[in-house]
Formats: sequence, structure tokens, C-alpha cells
Amino acid sequence: MQNVDVLIIGAGAAGLMCAIEAGKRGRSVLVVDHAKRPADKIRISGGGRCNFTNLHASPANYLSENPRFAVSALKRYTQHDFIALVDKHGIGWHEKTLGQLFCDDSAQQIIDMLLGLCQQAGVRIQLETSITSLTKPDDRFTIGTSRDTVRAHSVVVACGGPSIPKMGATGFGYEIAKRFDLPVVTPRAALVPFVFDDAMRERSKHLAGVSVDAVVSFKKTSFREGLLFTHRGLSGPSILQISSYWEEGKDIRVNLLPNTDVFEALKAAKQNQPKQDIKTALSGLLPKKLATHIAEEHKLGGRLADTSDKVLRKAALAINEWTIKPVGTEGYRTAEVTLGGVSTKALSSKTMEASTVPGLFFIGEVVDVTGHLGGFNFQWAWASGHAAGQFV
Ligand code: FDA
Repeated sequence: MQNVDVLIIGAGAAGLMCAIEAGKRGRSVLVVDHAKRPADKIRISGGGRCNFTNLHASPANYLSENPRFAVSALKRYTQHDFIALVDKHGIGWHEKTLGQLFCDDSAQQIIDMLLGLCQQAGVRIQLETSITSLTKPDDRFTIGTSRDTVRAHSVVVACGGPSIPKMGATGFGYEIAKRFDLPVVTPRAALVPFVFDDAMRERSKHLAGVSVDAVVSFKKTSFREGLLFTHRGLSGPSILQISSYWEEGKDIRVNLLPNTDVFEALKAAKQNQPKQDIKTALSGLLPKKLATHIAEEHKLGGRLADTSDKVLRKAALAINEWTIKPVGTEGYRTAEVTLGGVSTKALSSKTMEASTVPGLFFIGEVVDVTGHLGGFNFQWAWASGHAAGQFV
């Protein structure tokens, strides 16, 4: 039997940050994780360079049933606080694009920094340990683990969401919430590629690897970033972003050439080079494979001089206002995050503690707060972990 002040379930970004803060306050902290290594998602994030925060992080970059919930924690631990921490540890970084900050060398530097700080704060980390039971028979929790039993004043659930199950991701945090009668907003895969239906997949699989700068929209939300055709559908940053907003069965709109009014461009081409084939004209605007594909899909061909404005408009619409209905997403297998999670209605935005279960805290991705692509999810993990770390 071990007695600790704080037991943290999950040695990921949020759990380690919370452990450091609690340890610094003199709390005895035990972090348990069923994985072989801590912080595997940090290791693989940002293509191995970890997009650890975003210069422009603000509550507007998060989705939640209650968009105000994240305000307090994000304000108390900002991107500038994390940048200062990274700087203090001599980790080189650069801005890639749109305020996204990456390590110059390796994501491992962020993990080493966090583990070093845990050690300084006296935090113990027990890996390859799973939780077998969790109850609160009195003013403390009793936690059965695959190794022994732990008694703790506070339990922090920091076990993330189920995205990328092959890395050990689980929905265990939701089970804990339900066990204590806390509401959970139905989770689903987010920041995830779209898949086409069989017919469309067959017709467009030769486009795999083609990428363009695009504006992708769903209802009133739009993102302008890269779009990538894959063997199964669409990916790239703009697609991942809109996937968090998309509702199943509905269309998304794509502008494949945001800086160009394609109708005007084709009309000008018709005037200046009337003998040019419309396919050639389209190839001047888009990658050739994509231009040919659009021409074939819409049966476009022949000299511009012989092409009516009505047809030019049809071609322009296919490019500037392409409307598609994805059949679904790639799901948790490849999703970067999970939308939904433990309802913010059940938690204090100041402490992350469940209002009906004193001593039980939820932080990071397990909570119904989901960031945009670009370092915002780690910033939420740092901020919510930091917030809880002051109160556990
Ligand atoms: P996280 O998932 O990091 O940690 C949870 C921990 O709990 C894990 O160590 C897991 O093993 C453990 N656990 C789970 N179930 C358990 C159980 N039943 N018992 C015990 N332990 C359990 N974000 C960003 O801001 N910038 C980026 O560059 C990227 N890149 C990126 C790439 C890829 C491929 C993915 C999948 C995700 C990203 N993300 C990202 C998202 C980011 O990784 C994610 O939001 C955070 O890791 C969430 O931090 P948490 O600490 O909440 O969970």
C-alpha cells in the first residue's frame, strides 16, 4: 500500500505538467501510466519536432460545449509562459507558419525537460501500470493498480482521449467520469482526414499526393491552409481543421484557388488566347493532374473561343466552390485529437476539479476542450495541467 497526496493517471503532456506544479508545492506525487514510455504523443508530435504551442493561442482556438471554460486556465498559463520555460532549458525553436512553434531539433527535448522537472520536484513515475479500480470510500481515494494499492487525497485524470489507439490511447478517462456520475460529451475523432465514397475514391485515387493551398469551409467556419489528396480522400491542415466542425452527412465547400476568380481568369484567357484548349487554360491555374481531373469530371474540352460563358462558369464553380460530401473520416486510427469528453459543466474552470467529487480532477484532452491544429492542444494540456497543479 502506497500513500500519496496526488495520484495522476497518465504521463502525457497534461499529467506531467500537473505533476511538476504539484511537486513544486511540496505535494507527494505519483504518476502512473500503462505505457512503456512516458509522453509518447509528444514524441511523435509535429513530425518528431513537437509543435509545442502557438504564438496566437487564445480561447477562440478551442471547441467546447462551453467555449468560455478554457479562458481562465489559458489566461493563467499562456504560450509565453511555456516559451519562457523552453528558453530557460536552452531548447531551440522556430516558428514554422501561422504562429506554430516547433523544436529546432527534436520533440524528445520537451519530454526530457518535463521529466527533468518532475525529478527536481520529487515526482515518481510508474510506467506499465494499469488502474484496476478507483473508489472514494472516505475523504481519500483508493486506487487499485496492476502493482499495488494506492491511497491518495487527489486523483488527476490525465489519460487523454482515444485517438491513435495503437499508441495506447484509451477512453478510460470517460469511464472514470461515468463511474462518478459525471456527464461526458459524446467523443468523436477530430483533426482527422476525410474519406470519399467508393465511386469518388476510385475516380480520384490518381490524385493522391497532389496538394494545393485552399480555403475549406463548413457553415460559417473557414480555414485557409494546405489541402492534400490522398488514396482515400482528403487530408492536409485545412481539411484536418474543418473536420473538427464537420457534421456527418453534410457538405463541405472547398475553394481550390482562393486568390483567383476562375471565371474572370478563363474569360480573360478566352479573349487573349481564344485558340487555347480549356484544359490547357485550367492547367495554367492548377496542378496539371488536378486540372485534367476537373476537366474530365465536368466533361470540359475544346477551344476557349468555342466555350460558352455558361460552361466557363461551371468550370469556375468546380474550382472556386467545389462542394463535397465526405462519406466519413479516417476515425480514431489517425485522428490527432478527440472532440468532446468530460463535460465542462461538471468541472471548475479555475481548478479542473469535479464539483460533485472533491479531489477528482480532469485535465488535458480528456476534457471537452479541443484545440485547432497548430500547437493549441499542447497549450491546453500545459494550461489545464498547470491550473490543476495549484490545487491538487
Ligand atoms: P496524452 O494522450 O498526451 O497522454 C495520456 C497518457 O495517458 C498517455 O501517456 C497514455 O499512455 C496514458 N493512458 C491512457 N489510458 C490509460 C489507462 N487506461 N491507464 C493508464 N494510463 C493511460 N498537439 C499539438 O498541440 N501540437 C502537435 O504538434 C501535435 N501533434 C500531434 C501528432 C499526433 C500524431 C497526435 C496523435 C496528436 C498530436 N497533437 C498535437 C495532439 C496532442 O498530442 C494531444 O492533444 C496531447 O498529447 C494531449 O495531452 P494529454 O496529456 O491530455 O494526453
